[in-house]
Amino acid sequence: MNSFRTSLALRMAIGGMALFAAVGIASVLALRTILYSQLDGTLLHLAEVEAQAGAAAAGSDFQFHEGVLLAAGEGSAVEITRYGQLWTSDGQPVVRSRNLTADLELPRDALEEAKAGRVGWDTHVWRGRPIRTVVYPLSLVGMAHQDHVLQVAAPTEPVHQTLTQFSALLTLLTLLATAGAYALGRRIAAAALQPTAEITAQAESITAGTLSERITAHADVEEFGRLVTVLNRMLDRLDGAFQVQRQFTADASHELRAPLTVLKGDIDVTLKRDRSAPEYRATLVRCREEVERLARLASDLLVLARSDAVVPLEHVAPLDLRALVRRVVARFESAGAARGVRIAAAAEEVTVMGDERMLDRVVSNLVDNAVKYARPAGLVSLTLSRETGAVLTVQDDGAGVPAEHLPHLFVRFFRGDPARRRSEGTGLGLAIAKAGAEAHGGRLEFVGNAPGAVFRLTLPSASPC
Ligand SMILES: Nc1ncnc2c1ncn2[C@@H]1O[C@H](COP(=O)(O)OP(=O)(O)OP(=O)(O)O)[C@@H](O)[C@H]1O
Ligand SMILES: [Mg+2]
Repeated sequence: MNSFRTSLALRMAIGGMALFAAVGIASVLALRTILYSQLDGTLLHLAEVEAQAGAAAAGSDFQFHEGVLLAAGEGSAVEITRYGQLWTSDGQPVVRSRNLTADLELPRDALEEAKAGRVGWDTHVWRGRPIRTVVYPLSLVGMAHQDHVLQVAAPTEPVHQTLTQFSALLTLLTLLATAGAYALGRRIAAAALQPTAEITAQAESITAGTLSERITAHADVEEFGRLVTVLNRMLDRLDGAFQVQRQFTADASHELRAPLTVLKGDIDVTLKRDRSAPEYRATLVRCREEVERLARLASDLLVLARSDAVVPLEHVAPLDLRALVRRVVARFESAGAARGVRIAAAAEEVTVMGDERMLDRVVSNLVDNAVKYARPAGLVSLTLSRETGAVLTVQDDGAGVPAEHLPHLFVRFFRGDPARRRSEGTGLGLAIAKAGAEAHGGRLEFVGNAPGAVFRLTLPSASPC
């Protein structure tokens, strides 16, 4: 696994090195320019002084101020020796300074410049040493001397030496600064990671049994507050999911126990003494009803337990939703008639991609509720229309859903009226209907009370083949 500390430290070291190296190179170049322009200035000044001084006698009587040539730079860190030589303008040596044991080399281009009346410059190697040369036309100090040029030169080694020493110093400083930046990077990374280590430790200490605890470390620090908030929100969700799961298990076992107790009681009573065949038959019929109830409940629980992932759709195919709605209405007509409730359906032709059994269950649960909660001798209306998808509205004329029940309407096992508990279902109908709608990529919503409850089921229509 990569180490953040090392990678941050390396980045800082590389960045620092690049910065120091750039500054170093710029400094060396600047110093080089300064030293060379100083050298050129000195050479030109010397040439001017010597030319002025020797102007009176330009030929072999020309006298160099040897002391000035040698003493120049004395006492300074850089001792530069200068050489002087007088030439005729066609390049014949006339006289040279005494610190020269042989004639200098007169650069061609610089001589041409001087012959044209301008100061000529050149850098060249003379006797294995690099030297800087100025060729000064004596015509500049008077037309009487236009036949001579004055060469003043100096070795550039001292400048080189200074630049080499300066570069070495800068390289050493760059290496030291790079090492320093690396060490600093590690320290900064360690300090920056300290809060995350504390947050991680707190998060690790929260287990399934302590899901109500929250992370408090560095929650008020701008940079870490968001991380802590996100983690705490995740804990909220986990805590909520755990509680729902616990509640689901508790409710499920309670619901399963009730019919089992009824079954057992009924069987026990029947077995207490011998019974006639019709009595046994009556008991078996009651037991069968309870077993059917249990089987329905078990299958509902199975669907809901799985719906945390995805509700399984067994056989998805193009489906005539209008025909399905009509079948469901026909099935509930007798149940409605028992309460005097009439069911009216206005349906357009709509085809959807769906699992017939699951969609039948979704629509049945809605119609079952509507018939159950419509007022006696009331009306249940179904409207199926084709819009961007299929839209089925189921409306009754009952009392509607009280506002305080709305947040729990689609929650498993929620039943608005506890008095109806045993006889009127388990409170799983809407939860299953919603899960079924969502499994089809659709949705189930409570629209409102008008005044009876209005539910809307929306399903994506089948794409044309
Ligand atoms: N059309 C409606 N009018 C008024 N209240 C409704 C209507 N439909 C549902 N409700 C309320 O929502 C609750 C949950 O409905 P749901 O269908 O999930 O459960 P149920 O009908 O009580 O039982 P089950 O559907 O499992 O037989 C109901 O108990 C009821 O309080
Ligand atoms: Mg129901």
